[in-house]
Amino acid sequence: MTGEELVRRAEAAAANAYAPYSRYRVGASLLVRDGRVFDGVNVENAAYPLGVCAERTAIAQAASEGLRPGDLAAIGVTASPCGGCRQWLHEWRVERVFFRRDDGTIAEYAPGELLPDTWNLPEG
Ligand code: THU
Repeated sequence: MTGEELVRRAEAAAANAYAPYSRYRVGASLLVRDGRVFDGVNVENAAYPLGVCAERTAIAQAASEGLRPGDLAAIGVTASPCGGCRQWLHEWRVERVFFRRDDGTIAEYAPGELLPDTWNLPEG
């Protein structure tokens, strides 16, 4: 699947977003190395900070099926991932990240480029 195809799939998935507060629907489509795709959407809550982003619900779906960091080839997102999601994409080592820019073009990054010198849990 190309980055453009993944982002298009995420745009279709965004119709299922639960975003009654911001009215901003986000979709994310996560491509597994074996070809499976998990879709995620943002799911908001009346207690605003408890809402979750589309990238995280897609990763949580994959995790629930037993997938682990290293299994994930790419993600397509309808918009630029927030800082917290960038930390998730780093943790899950999603190899390529594609998202739709405001001008309509597709951005492509490695997670390390989206979050340079990333914080990691100190050893010991
Ligand atoms: N949102 C995402 O789903 N992903 C991001 O990376 C950025 C923000 C959602 C959270 C909230 O439901 C809505 O977009 C508005 O911030």
